[in-house]
Amino acid sequence: MGRVRIGGSKNAALPILFSGILTGAPCLFYDLPRVSDVLQTLEILRYLGARIRFLQDGAVMVDYSDMRPLTPPPAFTSKIRGSVYLLGSMLGRFGRAGLAGAGGCDFGNRPIDQHLMGFGLLGAEIHESNGVLLLEASALQGADITLAMPSVGATANLLMAATAAGGDTYIRGAAAEPHIAALISFLRSAGAVIEDLPNGDLHVHGGMPLHGASVFVIPDMIEAGTYLAAAMATGGRVRLDHVDPTHLTAVLDTLRQMGASLIVDENSISLEAPDTYTAVSVTTGPYPGFPTDLNPQFAALFCIGDHARGQGSMRELVWQDRFRYIRELRLMGAQALIDGDTAFFTPRPLIGSKVTSPDLRGGAALIIAALAAAGQTEIENAHTVARGYEHIEQKFRALGAELHTVS
Ligand code: EPU
Repeated sequence: MGRVRIGGSKNAALPILFSGILTGAPCLFYDLPRVSDVLQTLEILRYLGARIRFLQDGAVMVDYSDMRPLTPPPAFTSKIRGSVYLLGSMLGRFGRAGLAGAGGCDFGNRPIDQHLMGFGLLGAEIHESNGVLLLEASALQGADITLAMPSVGATANLLMAATAAGGDTYIRGAAAEPHIAALISFLRSAGAVIEDLPNGDLHVHGGMPLHGASVFVIPDMIEAGTYLAAAMATGGRVRLDHVDPTHLTAVLDTLRQMGASLIVDENSISLEAPDTYTAVSVTTGPYPGFPTDLNPQFAALFCIGDHARGQGSMRELVWQDRFRYIRELRLMGAQALIDGDTAFFTPRPLIGSKVTSPDLRGGAALIIAALAAAGQTEIENAHTVARGYEHIEQKFRALGAELHTVS
């Protein structure tokens, strides 16, 4: 049986690292995944004056004391989506935040209108000139904010600004992803007072003095889901350690429906894949729904003629343009039809081919398809996958796969 240790969550690490700016003090991070999005975040923080030390026990110390209210050049921020978290964190600390472009996966339009609406209600003035977004506030004041959709980014950004604002802030319709809970837990350990209201709204008692804190980054639920999908693709057995199964309820339910045998403990999941599994209908949605970041990997499973039975479908309700990986799967022989927000898949034998990773999770889906395809697959643009998967070659090797990076 292959055994894989799941690393820290990228999408928890990014807002937590940026929110450390609010503390103005040294903070200690354990289980920070060494993925390129996290390393780029550390570069941005260093540019702004933070001091960073990689400690021998694997922890990373970030000293946020001597930071400056600068706008990092776009070469720093345009590589990652998480740089948008500079807005809430720098505004909260300095009353001023500048962002000259945020990057991330290209899913079509990625608006930040909900972030800006909330910053406006907290008292920030918002200007944009020559592609630079500038936020300024002489004093942030608590506000009652209702999000139009449970945006992860807007919830995290507004939590940061509200923590520094005087008085009470309510964030209604907030995102509930485990990475939001992880950010709240870090901010609390740094001195913030944040209440989860029974209806899912958040109540921030702002303006509390913050201090340095240490944190263990939660395990990455998307990395875990990716390796579970990979085990299904190979008809194999895998045990994942350092995982929180409570974050994966929708994913584990889907795997059970497909016919997987699962043994779930507090911190581990073992999966035994059947020789053939049932392709099912999945709809993505905000947590606790099926995560959009596992859409491509599970869709790839529905394409695999050697194992999948029946027609599978993937309905995408979070991102408009998440199906770009389908063009690449078709190059490997997959049969897929897109109709509006839903893609339908009919299993076919897959053939190793030369494909291009369209984005982080789309690239992971191509690896999964390649594991089941006859012959060799070459994936170009593979650096997109390194944005969110740590030690990917070793971990896939633990599943019996041959995966090499060629330069
Ligand atoms: N949206 C708006 N206006 C806003 C904010 C969001 O219309 O102001 C819409 C988006 O267009 C999208 C939906 O709301 O349709 C959800 O967007 P959200 O803000 O939740 O996404 P995000 O914060 O930009 C994070 C993750 C993504 C993940 C989504 C959804 C990070 C750095 N990124 O993005 O992760 O897909 O939440 O869970 O945390 C990935 O890791 O591969 C990845 C893309």
